[in-house]
Amino acid sequence: MPIKIRSIKTSVTETEADAVVVGLSADSAPAGPAAEVDKATDGLISRIVESKEFTGKICEIMPIWGAAGVNAPQVLVVGLGDAGAAGGLKSDVAFRAAAAASRHLAAKQHGRVAFFLGDDWSAGLVESGVAGAMAGCHGQDLYREKKKSFPPDEILWADGKPAAVESGQVLGQSVNLAQRLVNEPPDRIYPESFAQAAVEVAGRSGLEVDVWDKQRLEAERCGALLAVSQGSTREPRLVILRYRGAKADAPTLGLVGKGVTFDSGGLSIKTSEGMQTMKCDMAGAATVLATIEAIARLKLPINVTGLVGLTENMTGAGAYKLGDVLTARSGKTIEVLNTDAEGRLVLADVLDVAVGEGVAKIIDLATLTGSCVVALGLEVAGLMTNDQAWCDRVAEAAGAVGELVWQLPMFELFDEQIQSDVADIKNIGEGRWGGAITAAKFLEQFVGEVPWTHIDIAGPAFREKPKPWCDAGGSGVMVRTLVEVARQWE
Ligand code: BES
Ligand code: MN
Ligand code: ZN
Repeated sequence: MPIKIRSIKTSVTETEADAVVVGLSADSAPAGPAAEVDKATDGLISRIVESKEFTGKICEIMPIWGAAGVNAPQVLVVGLGDAGAAGGLKSDVAFRAAAAASRHLAAKQHGRVAFFLGDDWSAGLVESGVAGAMAGCHGQDLYREKKKSFPPDEILWADGKPAAVESGQVLGQSVNLAQRLVNEPPDRIYPESFAQAAVEVAGRSGLEVDVWDKQRLEAERCGALLAVSQGSTREPRLVILRYRGAKADAPTLGLVGKGVTFDSGGLSIKTSEGMQTMKCDMAGAATVLATIEAIARLKLPINVTGLVGLTENMTGAGAYKLGDVLTARSGKTIEVLNTDAEGRLVLADVLDVAVGEGVAKIIDLATLTGSCVVALGLEVAGLMTNDQAWCDRVAEAAGAVGELVWQLPMFELFDEQIQSDVADIKNIGEGRWGGAITAAKFLEQFVGEVPWTHIDIAGPAFREKPKPWCDAGGSGVMVRTLVEVARQWE
């Protein structure tokens, strides 16, 4: 059951709910809704702040039960950090604070929770907050009989900005979709079932959809994607989703996603430990699907084509081998020297299809390299590009919604590393250094002249451990950034 979100105008003290969530900044007197609760309770909040029991740091949580003069049985105070700092409250804090409160409350079943995080939030902050409240209360317990997290039936959002609450709900639902697709186990989400999920999304949101099966992929000579799929009993798919929100001749944004529904490494097999989380290797594809649905539901005036390459990377008798020379759809030949560098092979063909579709600009998303995680850590996505202006726009969008990205350089000297003695290029660099960049250099070979930005989400797409503001598992990262890119489109 999707959570119902409703914009309300009632005061924090009189709202009927199982809990009211109130935001409190560090080092300043209670303001807005917190001040109202303070007044109704004869200074209870002020006394707590004075006692230093609660410091207001970001995501800090304090439940208060039975506050006099407040209708709801529970007031949940959540820290907003130092909101008085230059620039005021940022979207990432809005998202995380709302998500932390939501996650705390989701430990128990609640019918209705009401958020009063601040009474002067901009539309952008409201959207981030609502999306955070929805992202934070979903766990990875899809198949546990005894659930660990219980999304409330209804979330009330106190604000004079019902339109932002509404669009925040759309964003939140898309983040939830990406989270869930990533959390689904690989025996349930495989190329065919992911394609089916895409067809369902397209049906409910009015997108055009094309699914290329194995036969079509052969006819299209997608030799790189097909090679990766050879070791699996599951057939590959390539899904193309089209949203037309602008005139037919308007430039189209191309979104490309890596959809390896399970990455065993193939014959260059991973360790057992390295394989444990490799259901997450379709997070790029999930992000593309979730994003294009949000764009369609928000009716943005833009044309978008989403393309996802879906396959398993397995070790079956037909598996592709080290030394194989593949011919990609573009005609380039590729020497395979590591079957675990499969994502770039999948994307080579999907990027080529995107270019053939005539998209004006491309963003691809992929859990592509462990190297990117080594370089930037678990929370930051890597950006690589052939067009600085386009990359800057992606980075600005990420900044606006509070998602963390950092650019890595695409110096020409890295090109040498993917030269092959027997084919046009090879699928790994020389040694492991700069592995995120050599992977991007490989992708660059398949985008022609089209402005392209690659986002390596190997770090932030999947959490092995929970955070105060979210359960472990899929994060839905970059959905909000990509929607922001679409909003700022030409
Ligand atoms: N799917 C992995 C990358 C990955 C690692 C994603 C950790 C999420 C968490 C990718 O297919 C892979 O195996 N990459 C190799 C490339 C190497 C063989 C050149 C890697 O990063 O080790
Ligand atoms: Mn791999
Ligand atoms: Zn992979």
